[in-house]
Amino acid sequence: MAEPSLGVRRKSRPSSERKRSRAPVQSSAANSPVAPKRPSSGGEGPPPAEPPCCNDSEEDMFGDYDSFCGNDSLLAQVDDIEHKYLQDKNMNVKAAREITVGNLQSGIHQKKQDNFSASEKPSVLKADEEAACQVHDRDLVDGSREPAESLLDDLPSSQLLYFEKMNELSSAFRMSPDSKGRSECVNSSSDKIRSPLSYCADAEHRNRPMDFSSDTKCVLLKTESLKDHLKSAMTGNAKAQTLQVSKTKQLKEAILSEEIFVARKAIESSSVDIGPFYGLPSKVKDLFRQLRGIETLYEWQHDCLMLESLQQRKNLIYSLPTSGGKTLVAEIMILQELLCRQKDVLMILPYVAIVQEKIRGLSSFGIELGFLVEEYAGSKGRFPPIKRRVKKSLYIATIEKGHALVNSLIETERISDLGLVVVDELHMLGEGSRGAILEITLAKILYTSKNTQIVGMSATLNNVGDLQKFLRAEYYTNNFRPVELKEYVKIRDTIYAVDSKTENGFTFSRLLNFKYSSYLEKADPDHIIALVTEVIPNYSCLIFCPTKKNCENVASMVCKYLKKEFRAHREKEKQDLVKNLKSIGNGSVCPVLKQTIPFGVAYHHSGLTNDERKSIEEAYSSGVLCLLACTATLAAGVNLPARRVILRAPYVANDFLKKNQYKQMIGRAGRAGIDDAGESILIVQEKDKHLVRDLVNSPLENCYSNLLLELTKGMQSLLLSLVGLKIAVTCDEVNNFMCGTLLGVQQQLLSKEKSLSELIKDGLENLIEKGLLKGRISEKGHNSECTLTITPLGKATYKGSIDLAYCNLLYRDLKKGLEGLILESNLHLLYLATPYDVTSSCSPDWMIYLRQNVDSAVVNRLYLTFVLYNLVKETNIWNVSEKFNMSRGYVQNLLNSAASFASCLLHFCEELEEFWVYKALLTELTKQLTYCVKTELIPLMEVAGVLEARAKQLYNAGYKTLAHLANANPETLIKMIEHLSRRQAKQIVSSAKMLLSEKAEALQEEVEELLKVPTDIPGTH
Ligand SMILES: Nc1ncnc2c1ncn2[C@@H]1O[C@H](COP(=O)(O)OP(=O)(O)OP(=O)(O)O)[C@@H](O)[C@H]1O
Ligand SMILES: [Mg+2]
Repeated sequence: MAEPSLGVRRKSRPSSERKRSRAPVQSSAANSPVAPKRPSSGGEGPPPAEPPCCNDSEEDMFGDYDSFCGNDSLLAQVDDIEHKYLQDKNMNVKAAREITVGNLQSGIHQKKQDNFSASEKPSVLKADEEAACQVHDRDLVDGSREPAESLLDDLPSSQLLYFEKMNELSSAFRMSPDSKGRSECVNSSSDKIRSPLSYCADAEHRNRPMDFSSDTKCVLLKTESLKDHLKSAMTGNAKAQTLQVSKTKQLKEAILSEEIFVARKAIESSSVDIGPFYGLPSKVKDLFRQLRGIETLYEWQHDCLMLESLQQRKNLIYSLPTSGGKTLVAEIMILQELLCRQKDVLMILPYVAIVQEKIRGLSSFGIELGFLVEEYAGSKGRFPPIKRRVKKSLYIATIEKGHALVNSLIETERISDLGLVVVDELHMLGEGSRGAILEITLAKILYTSKNTQIVGMSATLNNVGDLQKFLRAEYYTNNFRPVELKEYVKIRDTIYAVDSKTENGFTFSRLLNFKYSSYLEKADPDHIIALVTEVIPNYSCLIFCPTKKNCENVASMVCKYLKKEFRAHREKEKQDLVKNLKSIGNGSVCPVLKQTIPFGVAYHHSGLTNDERKSIEEAYSSGVLCLLACTATLAAGVNLPARRVILRAPYVANDFLKKNQYKQMIGRAGRAGIDDAGESILIVQEKDKHLVRDLVNSPLENCYSNLLLELTKGMQSLLLSLVGLKIAVTCDEVNNFMCGTLLGVQQQLLSKEKSLSELIKDGLENLIEKGLLKGRISEKGHNSECTLTITPLGKATYKGSIDLAYCNLLYRDLKKGLEGLILESNLHLLYLATPYDVTSSCSPDWMIYLRQNVDSAVVNRLYLTFVLYNLVKETNIWNVSEKFNMSRGYVQNLLNSAASFASCLLHFCEELEEFWVYKALLTELTKQLTYCVKTELIPLMEVAGVLEARAKQLYNAGYKTLAHLANANPETLIKMIEHLSRRQAKQIVSSAKMLLSEKAEALQEEVEELLKVPTDIPGTH
């Protein structure tokens, strides 16, 4: 038995007891996916609003559902065999039944020599035989059937490959002199996970991987096990990336399938963890080690995973300091749900960039463990998601897309497919309209699916009681932080340690030791240079600045006074970075960055394009850059660690820093596995001293419901969708639902004048007035049973996730568009797809128009439409931002929000018959806006994290399709693509494989659905 966890001793039952509890393995759906014949790919393109697919790759993988990454010619051979086999099936089944296990092996050996001669193919598992397998299994246990017969019946064709490999393996083993003296059941000793010897030797472990080299007697004894393991292992084999899979890998996969099955069985029958790694296969442990470098779990992580309440599947909130390792616990729970309980999982993360980072990080797990990872961010994601036949899905979503996904699952009555919902950064519940959407999503899940477990985590929670009440959750907390974080403030030239035990909260630490000339004192009165040069270039440092402009100024100023020696540190890589940025900017590079990068310094804020941001983040992570001057967005953005974090001032823009923001920012310092120490220094002016004292000594802010504050995106939008989704359609039901929200919990605090039911009544009346709902709201006690219904406009609004503040205006604009839609160019359509809410941030220099008395909202929107129009035409953010004198980050944001809004608009129009014409037009426009690149790059950019610049490099190097990427060798990629690290190359390949697999599965599902024989054909029973 493998160690229970990565080094933390488990308190569960002793291993002997655990062994006994392993149920005999029987065939399971997951272990025996059907490999249907290759249908013709034909048909139409993807459904509307989907990212475009890469057709050339789909055709190949279509037929070979399990072995999509395999070598084409071999696939063709196998396919050919299948084809011939199906023709000769009747004849062959009879012949096959006469073959014993022993001659099966020789048959396969023969087959190899005969180049997969079709006549010798033992059997193919057909879809309609799947159910029969279970009967065969029972037969096997009874011993009433010939073992070889059932074995053969259950073998999908792709397993021939496995037989072949195993046969080779066993021959090699037989030839080895040391193998002679061993048990006849001995398997390859190359498997380092555990010795398969024990599997055969231990009578209790009848379900372990088998050795094909051993004699028939042994095989016969273990027939049941052999059959199941062949099936599961071969399934794994068929999914393998290449045909040159090592034997060890095959064996490991056999063990993995078995462990998943046993763990699943165990969890079904008991709530106690009896799997080797928290109920999961030991391969999971290996993956965490290989992919994350995690050797042992922290004690708290183990304790948390072993919580009684988790075993009982209660909801859970857990809170630990930043860098406490919260993600790992959530990921283990996610894997348990996907693999053991066989349920889908939704993981909600705050930003698109973090979603993409997670997709990249978890794709390898999905490939190795056989689940799908699906992206729901920006305009990506399918609603409702495709119902998978075999594999389970992990949906990784932003808050907004997570909400839309939950709506679509409720609407299609599939919400109980979600076994687990994980919310990272749970404190976001208190943050504006996004907080309101998160609250709505969680309240809907709580109300509609009693079996969906909710787990939320955060480093910055205060009023946990309210959140527990809302989520009906248990609470776990711990102060553990693997790397100590020392907090300091700097006032003039003195550094004080933050010490909550002392009266004024600070204790003297040291004087800054740096000789400033009077000139330098003037240029850098806050001694930033002194502070950063204590750590850089050998360690990394972040400076949080209040504004974007300030970031650029600080970066420039620091470099102006840094010694020349700083230029020598990793000089070549810094030159490469500048070159890379230049190629991203089509020849232009930001003058500030050009000046600062040679010193290892850069700025980072939303004014950069996504491509620039990514390059800078990567250079900083790898130590090429050692100092970033950044805005607060980086605190909750991607994981960029630092030895020292400096807060330039206790402000974000003009607002004094909040405790939560402060904690998140300083939390970037001293991340586990990267730094062994971390410190933060907050630069304080005399005038702010008292405020800072309050800041560092005060508790974290409370998390309050935003349903009322964000009325149109909050309360009203919730009421509309409750009726639309038929979650609650009478006033009583709506009241009931609302009592279960965070607003319901905090109502007395948040609305002193009106009761919850009065607030609801107002909201519903408003919706009726707006023409979004129909029905009558009566006075208290009367007519509370009256059913509310949604109007078509109401439905379109919630389906399109349109802010209620704009739905009527949008309807009018679209209606007007029908009168004379100008299709000579896409300008008119772009105007319709220009988001309403960005217009307030635009100030066009259009004196002529403004002097006339025109509606500035319309003018602004039109101006932005011109920006978008130029973008779509030119596909060059740099040129367009120059032309319109807007920052390239702003232009990029405009593009992203227009892409999102276009997809919302599409869903809106889909619900309203009169807007049918918009459907086709908007589908194409959404695609154009989503990618806004040359068409040939689109398939590559579908892969999470491949942005335009990388896509261009890949395309120019010959990687032109998704299939090229999915089958690429990371080592070759590194050699061919400049500035690509091994880790990035591996992640690109894994993400591409995952996407390809997801697309293949989707097509497979579609075929299955099409070919399904209806149960209600007239005249049949
Ligand atoms: N058991 C462990 N052993 C070693 N490193 C670990 C372990 N658990 C987590 N880590 C590492 O610690 C770092 C921080 O973990 P993680 O990102 O989960 O922190 P967090 O608690 O989510 O913090 P934050 O609140 O800032 O998001 C990561 O790099 C992660 O790989
Ligand atoms: Mg985290």
